Amino acid sequence: SHSANLVIVANRLPVDRVTLDDGTTEWRRSPGGLVSALDPVMRANDGTWIGWPGGTDGDMEPFEDDGLHLVPMSLTQDDVEEFYEGMSNGTLWPIYHDVVAKPEFHREWWDRYVSVNQRFAEKAAEVAAREATVWVHDYQLQLVPQMLRELRPDLRIGFYLHIPFPPQELFQQLPWRRQILEGLLGADLVGFQLAGGAANFVRLVRQRVGHKTHRDLIYLPDGRTVRAAAFPISIDTAGFEELARSEGVQERAKEIREALGNPRKVFLGIDRLDYTKGIYARLRAYAELLQDGHFDVEDAVFVQVATPSRERVEQYRILRDEIDRLVGRINGDLGRIGSPAISYMHSSFPREEMAALYRAADIMVVTPYRDGMNLVAKEYVACRYDDQGALVLSEFAGASDELRQAWLVNPYDINGMKSALLQAYRATERETTRRMRAMRKTIITHDVAAWARGFLEGLAGAGSSHAKQV
Ligand code: G6P
Repeated sequence: SHSANLVIVANRLPVDRVTLDDGTTEWRRSPGGLVSALDPVMRANDGTWIGWPGGTDGDMEPFEDDGLHLVPMSLTQDDVEEFYEGMSNGTLWPIYHDVVAKPEFHREWWDRYVSVNQRFAEKAAEVAAREATVWVHDYQLQLVPQMLRELRPDLRIGFYLHIPFPPQELFQQLPWRRQILEGLLGADLVGFQLAGGAANFVRLVRQRVGHKTHRDLIYLPDGRTVRAAAFPISIDTAGFEELARSEGVQERAKEIREALGNPRKVFLGIDRLDYTKGIYARLRAYAELLQDGHFDVEDAVFVQVATPSRERVEQYRILRDEIDRLVGRINGDLGRIGSPAISYMHSSFPREEMAALYRAADIMVVTPYRDGMNLVAKEYVACRYDDQGALVLSEFAGASDELRQAWLVNPYDINGMKSALLQAYRATERETTRRMRAMRKTIITHDVAAWARGFLEGLAGAGSSHAKQV
């Protein structure tokens, strides 16, 4: 079989096998920022991608998909419940996102996390060519670097965390904190979204594991050096802009505005339905603006797309019900015939439809409580080749480090959000243009190809042995 020089290991494959109600299966694009970012990079690099195709359908042979070599990893029902829904999304996800929801700690979940990580490591050891580069991704697979190094010391191993890396006070709660740090230290380069995450990691390694560190370098007793640094992720900016400029998308954007009754302003939110995204508070803030009489349902509409996500995890179910109820109440109180206050969709859309929505929206509202980066914010900017459109962005999304010219908000501060939404609503064309131009500059030069190049170059230069150097 294909012996790979560049191997991606991520919990998800870029395609998700979905079983429909009638029992047939179909392939769909997987949800989330990780896949949107990596997909174009891997197509350009002839990489092999190891990951879970969704579901519990048992073993599948490797297959090709449009220039990608895909190696499916099967998960059992117990794996899904304890490794994916449990340890990954019931423990690590909330801890790493500032405990927006309460994490749970279960020893069986951890045991399953260890065994699934071991199987991913074994699969990577099997498909990687001699001295190949293996790039492991995200919080579901933090033990893979060390496990893989044990199996294949010849490999160059990188790890990238797509979500925030938490401060010490939170990370320390994990009963398995030391194992996780040691798992990550199997990599030659550990990448984070922001410098703060990298600094948190280095500090923890020094204080918890006791290794010597200097700036972004960690010196291991066996002579290896590990580097920890920030590589803020991005999007395929040119690809999105091209899509947004296409005739089909422009037509569709017009249709969307018409279907909404051609209001003066269209607000837009697009998120995975996740409690970290701050959807509830954002819609409340918007409803209060209507209530206060700043504008009317005939002047404006809020389009909220919530992509179904992790629906078997309890906190996600609760959130879905809460938002259903909130939207129902707001529309019941404030809507008029043909003019709902909020147009809400619980579904996922293809890239073309997303681009059309970005084109149709005057004000993009991205207000997570905590987010590694948030690629939706960058996609919106990429689609605004007309330099129009306003972005309201949470200070707690990684993207706010780069997109400084957005209307920045604290998502916990409802009044602050209201005033930012109102400012964006009232902004002059000159003002939005000035801000949008600056943001576009940033993401045009810093696109996902530059991100991947930066990380892979860093990885090629990392992993020297300080013992040999001195
Ligand atoms: C975030 C995570 C990814 C994850 C995605 C979708 O972007 O960083 O690792 O794949 O959400 O979540 P899911 O649980 O459906 O894979």
